[in-house]
Amino acid sequence: MTMRIIASLALAGAAALAATTAAAQVQLTRAVLSQADYVIGRRAFQMRCSACHSLAEGGTDLTGPNLWAIMGSAPGDGRRPEFVYSDALRAAGIRWTADRMDRFLADPAKDVPANRMAVPEGVPSPDRLALIAFMMLETGGADWPRPELPTVVIDKDRSKPIEERFPSFWNHMMSNTVRYRMVTADGEQVFRAYFNRDGSISSDNDKIRGFWRPDDRDFFCYALYGLPTKPDQLVECFPMVAMSIPRFAEQLWESKPVAGVRLFGGILPGRP
Ligand code: HEC
Repeated sequence: MTMRIIASLALAGAAALAATTAAAQVQLTRAVLSQADYVIGRRAFQMRCSACHSLAEGGTDLTGPNLWAIMGSAPGDGRRPEFVYSDALRAAGIRWTADRMDRFLADPAKDVPANRMAVPEGVPSPDRLALIAFMMLETGGADWPRPELPTVVIDKDRSKPIEERFPSFWNHMMSNTVRYRMVTADGEQVFRAYFNRDGSISSDNDKIRGFWRPDDRDFFCYALYGLPTKPDQLVECFPMVAMSIPRFAEQLWESKPVAGVRLFGGILPGRP
């Protein structure tokens, strides 16, 4: 079985954000944007945008234009004189605001038909709000301060056990409940999993079992089997550092373990 890196380790403190972005009409006011989760926004940008866009002042155009000073600009207005925009994007009458960006990123192909930004899908909520806020901060378009990020101190000595090297991750995983929602063509299944100190995984569903182990990249890899869906097993890995700031929500990350399956994971406090 191939190890799959979780596609979107969106570690959201996101319940509140989800509520504010559920409806398309929500106004992305400064108050809302300045509260967005910087880490989620950065991760979303790195995963979805950074292959084609740089952000910093003086950055180069890649497949897409550098985005410095994007807010308030219009595609093709001379902000990036070297970049050749599509006629579709230039003619769309866009002047970028947070709300306009929100509409575009939700479904670029539908929002501006025939534009040349080839992304496989729009950016889902609530990541979109965090992504826009992050982009504004990094392109000189925000008037609120960059948040101070909690630093995670990591002991690089691999001879030590992970409970010593990643104590907050360890405590979080070993004392709380992981909630999964697996969505397939046949419907959805919700189950809970408990990662145990002995390397096993148990579940509130008797048929589901699994095991975990850290790998030599400091990823935490685990397998679940006996799932009530097709496929009935999955393997995933994620960087332990990404989970070292404990957060709780029903939905913190999303992955596509195999074609046609979306898996949503979250962490709930405590265990029965
Ligand atoms: C595969 C490459 C690619 C990816 C990935 C990509 N873009 Fe783009 N982007 C482009 C291209 C190309 C254009 C210009 C499109 C056109 O002219 O039709 C563009 C245009 C834009 C514009 C308008 C720029 C301007 O000067 O007005 C914004 C804003 C933007 N992208 C943001 C994003 C964000 C945010 C993401 C991540 C969610 C993203 N893009 C992902 C290639 C990409």
